[in-house]
Amino acid sequence: MKVSALAGSLIGSEIIKIGNEVNEMKRKGTSIANLTIGDFDANIYPIPTELKAGIVEAYHQNQTNYPPADGILPLRETVSELLKDRFGLDYPTNSILISGGSRPLIYATYLALIDPGDTVVFPAPSWNNNHYCHLTSANAVAVETDAEHNFMPTAAQLKPHLKGATLLALCSPLNPTGTMFDADQLAEICDAVLEENASRSAGEKPLYLMYDQIYSLLTFGKAHVNPVTLRPAIKDYTVFIDGSSKCLAATGVRVGWGFGPADIVDKMKALVGHMGAWAPKAEQVAMSKYFADKAQVDTFLTSFKKQIQDSLNALYNGFNELKAEGFNVQAVEPMGAIYLTIKIDYIGKTTPEGQVLKDSADVNFYLIKEAQAALVPFSAFGNEDSMPWFRASVGACTLQDIKDMMPRIKAALSKLK
Ligand SMILES: Cc1ncc(COP(=O)(O)O)c(C=O)c1O
Repeated sequence: MKVSALAGSLIGSEIIKIGNEVNEMKRKGTSIANLTIGDFDANIYPIPTELKAGIVEAYHQNQTNYPPADGILPLRETVSELLKDRFGLDYPTNSILISGGSRPLIYATYLALIDPGDTVVFPAPSWNNNHYCHLTSANAVAVETDAEHNFMPTAAQLKPHLKGATLLALCSPLNPTGTMFDADQLAEICDAVLEENASRSAGEKPLYLMYDQIYSLLTFGKAHVNPVTLRPAIKDYTVFIDGSSKCLAATGVRVGWGFGPADIVDKMKALVGHMGAWAPKAEQVAMSKYFADKAQVDTFLTSFKKQIQDSLNALYNGFNELKAEGFNVQAVEPMGAIYLTIKIDYIGKTTPEGQVLKDSADVNFYLIKEAQAALVPFSAFGNEDSMPWFRASVGACTLQDIKDMMPRIKAALSKLK
């Protein structure tokens, strides 16, 4: 069937391919530790009880018509307070946009700022920037990061690509790595953006910064930093992406918020409105009440984060033990989000059946079959498939699932020659 050039050239998702393999094995009755999806099993990680009750209550109150295109005012007021209280950021309600989760906000940021052919710079690995570049016909520049800096980009790595670029897309804590920016590292990047903008003429489009901090409330001790607090001058160029999907395990509830310069947010509002991608009104009503009670949010976050961190630590310690036993593996200490970065350096090894594992996807499918453990190689996040690094996401497994999986990984790796 003839479709648009855009639709015809959409990039397939490697994560979905892995997911299909996992589902096929499940269908055949195999129990598998599914560390692939950046989501939660709602039976292990339910949303906060009070939020659930609030949503039901809002439906009983017939909060079922169109919400305003930028989100209901009480929720924007709650978000404004939350930003002040948790991050020291000052954004009035007309600089805040609510939408159906954070994805429409990312897409709206791209649509509001990018003309076809404009350059978007983002680190590899990172999540989905390649897809948003494709949707907006942007010139995508993926800048490779390294293990030495926990796969967070540095100013030195980004700088050579910023000349003439329109958007720099950053994220911390980062999907897929679960690592975070240090203040100095982010401040240097902000300085590079400000320097680039100072060199442009008045009529030129500036270099904008999209800062995705959707995991900012899911950190395990390390302080979350943001560009505007570090360099207030960058406020005019920065659009933040944030929301409730990850910090409340509420991925299906669909309430996200973005904030930035009021004139850009206004354009984003029009774009989100045309897509009809606003958050359901009842969920907005419930979310505004839920986040207004800070003690309630903190109580939830404390126990939720502990559960996530216990799983990440079990995985981290498990891989460190394998390393100590001489296996070619390594893990990066978890800092935030729901992810662990793992090196499984077995590309080029041969399975007992005589198959040579030629790339990270082969290693991954070997572990799925042999260890019933499914990860996502960094090739799904923009890196080469020769790179032996993987993302493990702990939201869909119990701590016991993870503990049970480690001996299976050990046995599977032991069989490789
Ligand atoms: C870094 C990052 N930003 C945004 C999103 C999208 O979140 P939402 O479910 O609110 O659309 C995700 C989801 O995986 C993410 O990892």
